[in-house]
Amino acid sequence: MRQISNISELRKHLAGETSVAFVPTMGNLHEGHLDLVRCASEHGKCVVVSVFVNPLQFGPSEDFDKYPRTLAADLAKLKELANIVFVPSVSEMYPQQQTVYIEPPPISNELCGEIRPGHFRGMATVVLKLLNIVQPQVAIFGKKDYQQLYLIRQMVEQMNMPIQVIGGETVRASDGLALSSRNQYLSSTERNEAVFLYQVLKTIQHSIQSGERDMAKLESEASSTLAKRGWLVEYVSVRNRETLNLPDIADTKLVALAAARLGSTRLIDNLEIEIMNF
Ligand code: PAF
Repeated sequence: MRQISNISELRKHLAGETSVAFVPTMGNLHEGHLDLVRCASEHGKCVVVSVFVNPLQFGPSEDFDKYPRTLAADLAKLKELANIVFVPSVSEMYPQQQTVYIEPPPISNELCGEIRPGHFRGMATVVLKLLNIVQPQVAIFGKKDYQQLYLIRQMVEQMNMPIQVIGGETVRASDGLALSSRNQYLSSTERNEAVFLYQVLKTIQHSIQSGERDMAKLESEASSTLAKRGWLVEYVSVRNRETLNLPDIADTKLVALAAARLGSTRLIDNLEIEIMNF
């Protein structure tokens, strides 16, 4: 495994590679990331992982400075899994003020985008830059960030980028909590409570699969269950999986998404829902 922090050096190493699978990350790697990296090795001969905490996707009141940076531990975890770890500095990625941005579609102002204005613009811009730098054949992103994955797919398709985007399944702790770098901020009481975000999504999934079609009712029941347990709910929403729009009655491929705060920690999760028509 080679650690590279310079764009021109990375390009030299990748010159001539025709089977590159890429996993962009912000570091602080856990089993969820490592699963994406293992998936990458099934799709490419040369596995590249980037570790870069992107200032462009954090709002002024968000946790950019506090975001955990654990490079030595990340490199140790990637040792046997990745061929190249790209670790650029902020000045390598943004040598001048970034004035050209990717403008994501209007759905980026809903769900997480409503609470985090500008987040997806900053995310899409750095992902475009990283994809241009690495020029992989395949790129893997976690389904845990469902809206992010959707927007990246749209960008790659609409910008005619010759890259196959793969969505990696969410890895969960034994109680069901989705693995996330932010879980480490939780106190032990909060950690026990955190699984309820997944539980309310499971309840929605079960209700829909049992025939309930009043999505607004399910969303508001889930929100009030969480609120009663002390969560500050940002949204619970059932959407069409392929557009992220509100679903029509005939839609069969859905996803329930939620974001809520437990103390000062913001958690997100989602669950795909398939309606079988007999
Ligand atoms: O999901 C993340 O870790 C980040 O949003 C990404 C895709 C690496 C872009 O900074």
